[in-house]
Amino acid sequence: MRLIFSIALLASLPLSAQDKQEKLAKPQPNPTNLKMLKATTRPEVVQIMRTFTAGLGTQCNYCHVQDNFASDENPKKETARHMIQMVQEINGKFPDGKMLVTCYTCHRGETQPKTAPEPKPAG
Ligand code: HEC
Ligand code: HEC
Repeated sequence: MRLIFSIALLASLPLSAQDKQEKLAKPQPNPTNLKMLKATTRPEVVQIMRTFTAGLGTQCNYCHVQDNFASDENPKKETARHMIQMVQEINGKFPDGKMLVTCYTCHRGETQPKTAPEPKPAG
């Protein structure tokens, strides 16, 4: 089964005023270097990217070199590709085919997911 990284869930998110301004200011070239995601337009990709920044609690430049999103120079981008694949495999194992596990499921707004709860304060 081919699992598409679903953006349907996110399609209803409202665009911020900043997003709209960026759109007016700059042309939005379509992606040229996608190996994992099935998105075809820049806005589709950027919506998925926002789930990454929210999931990991980072900015775009955590995975991207400045002003060149297509570049693979930042090694975190390749790590993220492996994570996308892992997440697609996990979701493919659920019988309903829904995207139940996301970056946030593990990362919870941090780059290094916790493997155990924080120790409770003494007393
Ligand atoms: C956790 C790492 C990560 C973060 C954070 C991230 N990206 Fe990405 N981005 C990726 C990966 C991985 C790809 C390539 C996906 C693929 O190969 O299908 C990508 C691809 C893209 C592309 C397509 C480039 C092309 O021409 O192929 C754009 C545009 C982009 N990201 C924009 C953004 C923006 C804007 C942000 C911040 C809102 C952002 N990214 C944050 C990992 C990240
Ligand atoms: C099943 C749990 C899980 C999910 C889901 C998950 N990750 Fe991760 N991720 C991890 C773990 C655990 C690590 C730390 C691995 C290590 O230290 O070797 C990690 C590390 C990373 C790193 C490297 C962080 C660093 O400090 O170098 C990136 C980037 C990343 N994940 C991106 C993503 C993205 C993007 C997604 C969603 C597409 C995602 N992850 C979903 C568990 C997960």
